[in-house]
Amino acid sequence: MSAPLLSVRGLDKKFGGLAAVQQVDMDLHPGVLTALVGPNGAGKTTLFNLITGNIPADSGEVLLDGASIRGRSPHHIARLGVARSFQDLRLFARMTVRENVLAAIEHTAWLWQPGGRSARRAREAAVEQALERTGLTAQANARAMDLAYAERKFLSVARILATGSRIWLLDEPASGLDLHSRARFVSLVRQAAAEGVTICLIEHNLDIVTELADRIAFLDRGAKLAEGDPQDILRDPELIGIYFGERRT
Ligand SMILES: Nc1ncnc2c1ncn2[C@@H]1O[C@H](COP(=O)(O)OP(=O)(O)O)[C@@H](O)[C@H]1O
Ligand SMILES: [Mg+2]
Repeated sequence: MSAPLLSVRGLDKKFGGLAAVQQVDMDLHPGVLTALVGPNGAGKTTLFNLITGNIPADSGEVLLDGASIRGRSPHHIARLGVARSFQDLRLFARMTVRENVLAAIEHTAWLWQPGGRSARRAREAAVEQALERTGLTAQANARAMDLAYAERKFLSVARILATGSRIWLLDEPASGLDLHSRARFVSLVRQAAAEGVTICLIEHNLDIVTELADRIAFLDRGAKLAEGDPQDILRDPELIGIYFGERRT
């Protein structure tokens, strides 16, 4: 396997006495889709927050292309090409769908990127393409707050897609989707993966995990219990027991 694009090494985060993330190592390889699974409270979202600089780690390292990004601001990390979605989506409710996507692009642009008409046209084209791919073109002028639930979830993906980021960290983007939307979501993510995007997907639905994941990292009570081939992880009775809440201790 090629060198990892993003690595975390020995990451630790405590909230008071609670070890939310403990000594976690994880590698995201170029073009590989890793599903991050584990029961509620396992530390999955916290791990994303540590990677993206939304919360500071107590110790450990986050490496992008082998260089440390620990301690960088979320904005800086986004501009380096690490995009994420949030469980609570964090859309601009009163802005239109199109404005939401454009704002995401502007957020990740470097200040010294060329401005002017051609840059603006390129951004507008990226917005329209992201809307098209997420099936939101017809809703482009609707306010985010007026969208249906599934459309809001797709808008959060469109915001990432439009930035052209090479790493996507997706926090339960498919939760609560109906079957039709779920299938659309799977093909959207497949297409991005086929284009070489490196993806880490937090997902509870094991059917979606099976359909999409090249690898699984399994987290429980802040610790990574296993990482590897989806077939092996999903056949491990102990992990599946933990996943479905049959812990014995
Ligand atoms: N900002 C915070 N302050 C205190 N405790 C937190 C905070 N964020 C998460 N936690 C706790 O850390 C643990 C891991 O949470 P989280 O990373 O959200 O888990 P997951 O995403 O796997 O469900 C949980 O016990 C949660 O209550
Ligand atoms: Mg979470």
